[in-house]
Order: sequence, then C-alpha cells, then structure tokens
Amino acid sequence: INHERSMMMMFVFAHRGASGYAPENTMAAFRKAVDMGCDGIELDIQQTKDGRLVIIHDENVKRTTNGSGYVADCTYEELCKLDAGSWFHSDFAKERLPLLDDYLDAIADTGLMTNIEIKNVPFFYKGIEQKLIQALSSRGMLDRVIVSSFDHYALATIAELEPRIKLGVLFGDRLFEPANYIRSLPFPVYSVHPHFSFANEAFISACHDIGSKVYAYTVDRPEWAVALRSAGIDGIFSNVPNYVKVGI
Ligand code: G3P
Ligand code: MG
Repeated sequence: INHERSMMMMFVFAHRGASGYAPENTMAAFRKAVDMGCDGIELDIQQTKDGRLVIIHDENVKRTTNGSGYVADCTYEELCKLDAGSWFHSDFAKERLPLLDDYLDAIADTGLMTNIEIKNVPFFYKGIEQKLIQALSSRGMLDRVIVSSFDHYALATIAELEPRIKLGVLFGDRLFEPANYIRSLPFPVYSVHPHFSFANEAFISACHDIGSKVYAYTVDRPEWAVALRSAGIDGIFSNVPNYVKVGI
C-alpha cells in the first residue's frame, strides 16, 4: 500500500518517448508514451546544417538510422530521407527523424509536459537556444516544458533570453557538494537531473532545501523506482514508463 501511494506521487517521463517499445525519439515512441498515460515525455534535440531543430539523441545519425554522418553536417532535407525505425524493428521502417516543430504541434492538445534536452556536446550549436525559445513562444508553450542540458552555459543563455522557461540541470558524474554548485548558477534551477545512482536521500533533501525538484535518469526497474520514491524523489525518466509505474 505504501508503495502504491508513493508511486502515485512520482512524475514519470517517457525517456526518448516510450523507447523500450518503439524506436527512441520518433513519433511512434511519443505516441506510445501518450497511449501509456505517462506524465511527461523527454526528448533530445540537435541542430542541422540548415539550422533546423531535429529530435535525435546522438550527434551522429549512425546508431539510430540507416545513414551515417553528423547531424551538423546534414540539411534537414537530407535527414528526413533516413529510416529512423528499422534499426529497432522492421515494423517501424516508416519512422523519420522528427522536427521539434512537428512534435510540438502533435502534442499541443495533450496537456503533457515535455523535457527538452539540448544536446550541445561535442558540437556547440550556434543559436540553438534562440530557435528553441522561438518554437515554444510562437505556440504559447513556454510553460509546457522543462529545458535541460549537460551544457549549463546553454541553460544560462536560455535564462537570459527567456526567464520564464523552467530549467533543469543535468549531470552525469558525482559532483562535489552538488547543492553548492547548483546554488552558484546564475539562474533559478527548477529541477536537478542526476543519474539515479547519485539520488540518495541526502542529495534529494539538499536539492529540496534550495528549492529545486529532483528528476533522475534512467530508471527501468520498478524496485529502483520504489527506492527513489522512498528517498523523496519528485520524478524519474524511464524507457518503460508503464512498467515502472504499475509493474510492481
Ligand atoms: O535527460 C535525461 C537523460 O536523457 C540524460 O541522458 O544520454 O539519455 O540524454 P541521455
Ligand atoms: Mg536525454
């Protein structure tokens, strides 16, 4: 009973969409996430040679399409010819790399929260922050997203350009005194996004003390989700959002 109650209070983002069941960061994975009743969707953006924001995790298309090369070296016209689904299963051969614009239009009516992760390493995409803000503000969706990045300079740029956007600080290593670091940043941190192995009770309460939520990645086992919730976590990212939420 305690577990059930605690799980209900935890926000579950479908990580790269419901990527355990459909090719990551495709419209199929996002539709699956919506159908599963997840609370939110996480996705990753990179910028094409012609300045379009495209949804893909890696800087190179090789792993998740039938093409090769860097996103930064291709136009969107070139990228949208690629098959972004067959690597996962032949049923998904029609999937393409979605534009952020297409995703935002598709989920506008769902009321879902989206965590947009700016991938800015190893390429620093000039102007990516401004383009993201434009895509959101032109649709009245500034309050429907949390923008996160491992590149905290990108977050500082967003805060300067559009202070109403909620910002999430991502990190993958074990920071020394993370709350001190987070407090030192020149913008309000809505949420802290650590790898789940760092999200113990002390870490979570230190973040809460400075007014930030904690969303941990990537949690695919129900028992991990239960332990994190017991430690006081606000939410998690999962490739299998239905399974971690009700599969206990
Ligand atoms: O945003 C949480 C998580 O997606 C960060 O890592 O590599 O899966 O984008 P990655
Ligand atoms: Mg991500």
